[in-house]
Amino acid sequence: MKKASLISIGAYVPKDTLTNFDLEKMVETSDEWIVKRTGIHTRHIATGEITSEIATKAALVAIQRADIDIKEIDAIICATISPDHFCMPSTACKIAKNLGLEGITAFDISAACTGFIYLLELAKSLIESGAKKNVLIIGAEKLSSIVDYSDRSTCILFGDGGGAAIISARDNNEILDVHTASDGNFADLLITPGGGSANPASQAMLENKLNFIHMAGNEVFKIAVQTLTKSVIDILQKNSITSDKVDLFIPHQANLRIIEAVKQRLNFTDSQCVVTVGKYGNTSAASIPMAINDAYEEGRLKNGDLILLDAFGGGFTWGSALLKFGGR
Ligand SMILES: CC(C)(COP(=O)(O)OP(=O)(O)OC[C@H]1O[C@@H](n2cnc3c(N)ncnc32)[C@H](O)[C@@H]1OP(=O)(O)O)[C@@H](O)C(=O)NCCC(=O)NCCS
Repeated sequence: MKKASLISIGAYVPKDTLTNFDLEKMVETSDEWIVKRTGIHTRHIATGEITSEIATKAALVAIQRADIDIKEIDAIICATISPDHFCMPSTACKIAKNLGLEGITAFDISAACTGFIYLLELAKSLIESGAKKNVLIIGAEKLSSIVDYSDRSTCILFGDGGGAAIISARDNNEILDVHTASDGNFADLLITPGGGSANPASQAMLENKLNFIHMAGNEVFKIAVQTLTKSVIDILQKNSITSDKVDLFIPHQANLRIIEAVKQRLNFTDSQCVVTVGKYGNTSAASIPMAINDAYEEGRLKNGDLILLDAFGGGFTWGSALLKFGGR
């Protein structure tokens, strides 16, 4: 049986930025408060682009770095909570069109900030079942379209961007293990309440700003730290791997304090840990592939390196993955 391997990575961020100093002019906040509580200095914001365009640009980088022809891609799956269109068509269908790929499987998934881990599990299953050979997975977000820039508790956190990977059938360097989970009991703690069947679009829905992200930040924070830590302990134990054997720990980039708390609990060193939240903010489903891409472009990630991914997000959803980078 062929194994699923992550053979290439790519990312794209829109050129415009929104700094803490810009936010100081928009809401009652300060650069000092934001840096101290979140570690975020700036984030990228898409002004003229939509999610499928951000995703396509990230995908083109991953495709160019892969040793396959674009026509060999037989599925595209996009994880996003800020799709081009609320119901249809899927963002993945528009990415396929942008890439000139007709007649292939294309669909979106919604797993919030855990989106990339869910994508890995799906792509691995599709490849190891023999259904597909080369799956393009993309986490892409234009979160600025669902952020309320008058709500200081959320607007300081989120940014736009995209990250993509090609998952291909190979003989070795496989994706060793992926674990995904959810608990809908916490659905209301991190939610865009309006626009769906629970609260369809209406004048009142818009006036109450229910189309934007609402979050009970403090409660999410505590559960995120506990869950992310446990998820890593479980996947390492299950695979009989100790944390010192991990070349790079690449967690979801939501808040530097969350990353530091998890890193300390798990005894990861600074050189093992990838941190990009300071310059991108929280880009939800895009955050992990963007962070992998940063590590790759900085020369911190080589073929065969063991990487550990860990994410937590709305739903709640969470998950972790252990994989060897590169496919040859
Ligand atoms: C949002 C978050 C940064 C807030 O930090 P916090 O330390 O938990 O702060 P709190 O929400 O307890 O608020 C503390 C105080 O700061 C205030 N505050 C909130 N946002 C502020 C801002 N941008 N600037 C200044 N003050 C702010 C609050 O009003 C509160 O004031 P009060 O004590 O007078 O009521 C933090 O909770 C967080 O990162 N949560 C998880 C986010 C996350 O990971 N979400 C996605 C999951 S993937």
